[in-house]
Amino acid sequence: MEFSPGLITAAYLIAALLFIFSLSGLSKQESAETGNLYGMVGMAIALIATLADPRVSNVLMIFIAMIIGAVIGLRLANKVEMTEMPELVAILHSFVGLAAVLVGFNSYFEMHQSFGSSLGHLGMDTEAMKIAMNIHLSEVFIGVFIGAVTFTGSIVAFAKLRGLINSSALMLPHRHKMNLAAGITSFVLMIVFVQNGGAHFPLFLMTAIALLFGWHLVASIGGADMPVVVSMLNSYSGWAAAAAGFMLNNDLLIITGALVGSSGAILSYIMCKAMNRSFISVIAGGFGTQVVIDVDKDYGEHVEVHAEAVADLLRNARSVIITPGYGMAVAQAQYPVYEMTQALKDKGIDVKFAIHPVAGRLPGHMNVLLAEARVPYDIVFGMDEINEDFSQTDVVLVIGANDTVNPSAAEDPTSPIAGMPVLEVWHAKEVIVFKRSMNTGYAGVQNPLFFKENTQMLFGDAKDSVEQIFKAL
Ligand code: TAP
Repeated sequence: MEFSPGLITAAYLIAALLFIFSLSGLSKQESAETGNLYGMVGMAIALIATLADPRVSNVLMIFIAMIIGAVIGLRLANKVEMTEMPELVAILHSFVGLAAVLVGFNSYFEMHQSFGSSLGHLGMDTEAMKIAMNIHLSEVFIGVFIGAVTFTGSIVAFAKLRGLINSSALMLPHRHKMNLAAGITSFVLMIVFVQNGGAHFPLFLMTAIALLFGWHLVASIGGADMPVVVSMLNSYSGWAAAAAGFMLNNDLLIITGALVGSSGAILSYIMCKAMNRSFISVIAGGFGTQVVIDVDKDYGEHVEVHAEAVADLLRNARSVIITPGYGMAVAQAQYPVYEMTQALKDKGIDVKFAIHPVAGRLPGHMNVLLAEARVPYDIVFGMDEINEDFSQTDVVLVIGANDTVNPSAAEDPTSPIAGMPVLEVWHAKEVIVFKRSMNTGYAGVQNPLFFKENTQMLFGDAKDSVEQIFKAL
């Protein structure tokens, strides 16, 4: 079955519209499922239209590749834990980057053989041919550059999130000068490449520089800035796909790439704002960050508490706020948390949830977990909506959260997370922290909250602790 060019354009247009509806649906929990559905239908239409394009000669090969990809994808999707999602996303971004590099080189070698003759057939004069060739060469160069940066950057992000390499920022001397030099050299190489009608050397040299640049850019971002890196690489992978769309002359790939690129950029910006970080300084590899980690500081003694005592405290409370974090996801404690919430509400206690924008390991992580456990949306609040309520709250349960409730972000200008807005739980009458040890959170920073007078530590796996409290209630 072959589609006419008009039909393919129409199919691509419908797919592009469905992708836009999909993004809009995904921006709210209530409409996220419908958003996903739009995305799937759009992708199915795009695939059918691509396979039915008369320019596609070897449909069988594509089918075989799709089947292999689908088997691997389904296996991974079934196996991956929610907490491993950012790693999966990071490694998938690296594939997009690699694809853009391969498409770029393929297009470059093909062009060497056929560019002149095909344009010659179209009856173009030499000047027009030269301009068209220069445009295509620039597309190839930029596509390979973005793809190579995305490829190695995403591999480093994957290794950091998986814990294969240290997640703290690599602070090489003159690192910003090196980044700047890599950017300027690549730009100069592009001019040399285009002026010499696509000579091999500048393209190969730039590819090597871009691979190193991507690696260094992400290696020099660390700690609490990692969420921004993931969404930033998401954005880069979109631009890499758009660049591949230009090289392949595929409008839908250009539109889809631009949608992913811009939504990733918007998300990075929103996350930077939420963490009070400068967008430019994060994407420029932690530019301007001065970090002092004070390991020897004496924070005082912490106080331990048991589940029964926490149940007593809750029974006598009028208002309770639960602030979940990464530990709730690891322990899969959202289901018992929901049961405990119901039990408290049945006793007439006001229970609310406070969600920090970067709690957990991926945007919206906590919202997804709570929705999974059927916690009603109307008791789940964002940081800005709820931060003022802590001072009038009897008990705050910090379940597996650490960096997102760390007072040193607000009080200690030398802290690596200084300036990041946090959930100000310490203003409540009583704070109970659920965790397994006195270990630090993702950013590797000690948390003075644990040593405050109104804080008590409930040690153990978050799921076990919540279940014990539920039983005692
Ligand atoms: P974290 O600061 O990561 O702290 C999680 C805490 O959970 C740890 O201190 C850990 O302490 C505890 N924990 C782990 N397993 C547990 C279990 N089974 N039971 C009970 N407690 C457990 O959490 P957060 O407050 O959610 O902050 C998120 C951090 O991740 C931020 O620094 C953020 O920048 C970063 N990050 C976020 C994202 C996104 S997009 N959300 C992406 C990448 C990185 P113990 O080991 O003592 O139990």
